[in-house]
Amino acid sequence: TLTQAEKAAVVAIWAKVATQADAIGAESLERLFSSYPQTKTYFPHFDLSQGSAQLRGHGSKVMNAIGEAVKHIDDIRGALAKLSELHAYILRVDPVNFRLLSHCILCSVAARYPSDFTPEAHAAWDKFLSSVSSVLTEKYR
Ligand code: HEM
Repeated sequence: TLTQAEKAAVVAIWAKVATQADAIGAESLERLFSSYPQTKTYFPHFDLSQGSAQLRGHGSKVMNAIGEAVKHIDDIRGALAKLSELHAYILRVDPVNFRLLSHCILCSVAARYPSDFTPEAHAAWDKFLSSVSSVLTEKYR
């Protein structure tokens, strides 16, 4: 679980990220699909070319979910319960991919807000995204 200081760091950066959430979401997916092309196999029905409407739409949904998790940082499990069932029972995304996407989200945030992305902020966001990933993968068996 995150310390009070880590929660504060996540919330502070989110206030900036939220203003450009759609762009950061799309960039995170672009990074995911170009650095880890095997992740594209989950999206055979998507047009994954750079800047496509589907990529931007999906990036926006992902960042909305991250925003919900920030808003309910003391109850991430409750906030993402439905998404957890979706990823586990229906999409069956291999949990390793959550680390890859989390890394790409971190990179996108760091690239956009370099001076806010201190080692402390980095560590707090890494821990937060791990918590989100744990919740989204905990229903697997
Ligand atoms: C769908 C969030 C990780 C694959 C979704 C949706 C959200 C979401 C909000 C839309 C749900 C809906 O339409 O009701 C997240 C978050 C993640 C994450 C917050 C981690 C931080 C992943 C990973 C993969 C993945 C790692 C695979 C590499 C998918 C797929 C869909 C989906 C295939 C369905 C897309 C569609 O057909 O519209 N995710 N996701 N997700 N996610 Fe994730």
